[in-house]
Amino acid sequence: MSEKTGLREDLRSAVGVLVASDAPDEEVLNEVVQRVHEAHPVWDWSGIYLLVGDTLMLGPHTAPVDHSRIGIGEGVCGTAVSEDRNQVVEDVREIENYLACSIHTRSELVVLIRDQGKIVGEFDIDSDTVGAFTKEDEALLEEMGALISGRVASQVSSYGSG
Ligand code: SME
Repeated sequence: MSEKTGLREDLRSAVGVLVASDAPDEEVLNEVVQRVHEAHPVWDWSGIYLLVGDTLMLGPHTAPVDHSRIGIGEGVCGTAVSEDRNQVVEDVREIENYLACSIHTRSELVVLIRDQGKIVGEFDIDSDTVGAFTKEDEALLEEMGALISGRVASQVSSYGSG
């Protein structure tokens, strides 16, 4: 088994155990973000935004950032929702509506999380390296998204009822 396949297997089983646990959604999602982030040295910031109504609300993340709410169509994150597709940005300096969270960020990956076909949130990953993200990274996050989508949906509904 290659190192990358091993990493993916490890993450898959760790995330599966977390999702099936009795831990609250917030704790599970936070742990997932930390584990996925720590497994990738060139990922400098990782987080999940939750789609609550028509606003992306910042969920668990690895370091504080300015953009805690993003509208649909705004920035790379909001564009993923309005275009209904993942975003892989090689160099954020070439993106007009990019919302800067750190002056050091160079590339960004946004992967949508769907529950029963409906977008409930997204992974947002930033790197200080140009072109840091591969198809494999996108596929890994899609897989993680499928595993945690029920927990994300449940967290989104708790905002609605709060
Ligand atoms: N860069 C994002 C904003 C979120 S921060 O990177 C954490 C965007 O353009 O939507």
